Amino acid sequence: MSKRIRKAVFPVAGLGTRFLPATKAVPKEMLTVVDRPVLQHVVDEAREAGIEHFIFVTGRNKGVIEDHFDIAYELEDTLKKRGKIKEYDALIADLPPAGAASFTRQQAPLGLGHAVWCAREIVGDEPFAVLLPDMVTLGNGPKKSRCLAQAVEAYEAHGGNVIAVEEVPPEETHQYGIVSVGKDFGAAFEITGMVEKPPRGTAPSNLMISGRYILQPEIFDILAKGEKGAGGEIQLTDSMVTLSGSQAFHGVRFDGKTYDTGSKLGFLAANLAFGLTRPDIADGLKAEIAKLLG
Ligand code: G1P
Repeated sequence: MSKRIRKAVFPVAGLGTRFLPATKAVPKEMLTVVDRPVLQHVVDEAREAGIEHFIFVTGRNKGVIEDHFDIAYELEDTLKKRGKIKEYDALIADLPPAGAASFTRQQAPLGLGHAVWCAREIVGDEPFAVLLPDMVTLGNGPKKSRCLAQAVEAYEAHGGNVIAVEEVPPEETHQYGIVSVGKDFGAAFEITGMVEKPPRGTAPSNLMISGRYILQPEIFDILAKGEKGAGGEIQLTDSMVTLSGSQAFHGVRFDGKTYDTGSKLGFLAANLAFGLTRPDIADGLKAEIAKLLG
């Protein structure tokens, strides 16, 4: 039986330059989708998939992320004194248990592969998940399970390494990591190749790596070499290509929708899509959208 996935790495050191000036003083991961920070949605998804230990790879000016996942004594005390018990309970329910969140820093922006490598001591010798914090997901189907839960299911069925993928229009493939599809098992398929940001017209498929991974710890030995790839950065995709020489990789087509909140359009679309799932505001939001569209 495959080892259970207990730990997840959240690379949150990015500068958020695509979202200036909003991200000048506020980390991009703390911008809100409805009333929860983007990063909280991603942590919710990890918890739903059974993750017990949350590892944040942060950077300078990201201290507020640590505060967000800690108790806020004065606020909590004031809420209790004012009888705002629902709000208090909601804050407490979001908190990782004591000792279940770890923070380490990526000292220089050397790429996603380097950020993941910075978590090696905290992950140790066990398979783990990686969740890219820009990407927020909403599941389809009766269970509405989000992307990492679906990746964990595929991992339990096939073991090895698992990468979530989603279709993108062919004219967008150059912006992402793209996989090649081998034997199909229905919910999952064998990955026979991966390429980071292929030049236009050269992508092996239109299935992009959508930011949810389950990786075996041997990836760290490959990342340790620090080899640079696309854009002069240490790419996670390149080290996965190397690891795929000795270990199986499966792709899972996410049954749902991923929103890239790092782009302005994706951020706005995520707010609308998540807003429409919220019983307290869905009807009002629909009415506002209808008014705007005339
Ligand atoms: C990263 C990954 C890429 C993936 C993408 C998803 O790229 O390297 O493989 O498709 O995230 O958003 P980045 O967006 O950091 O350039």
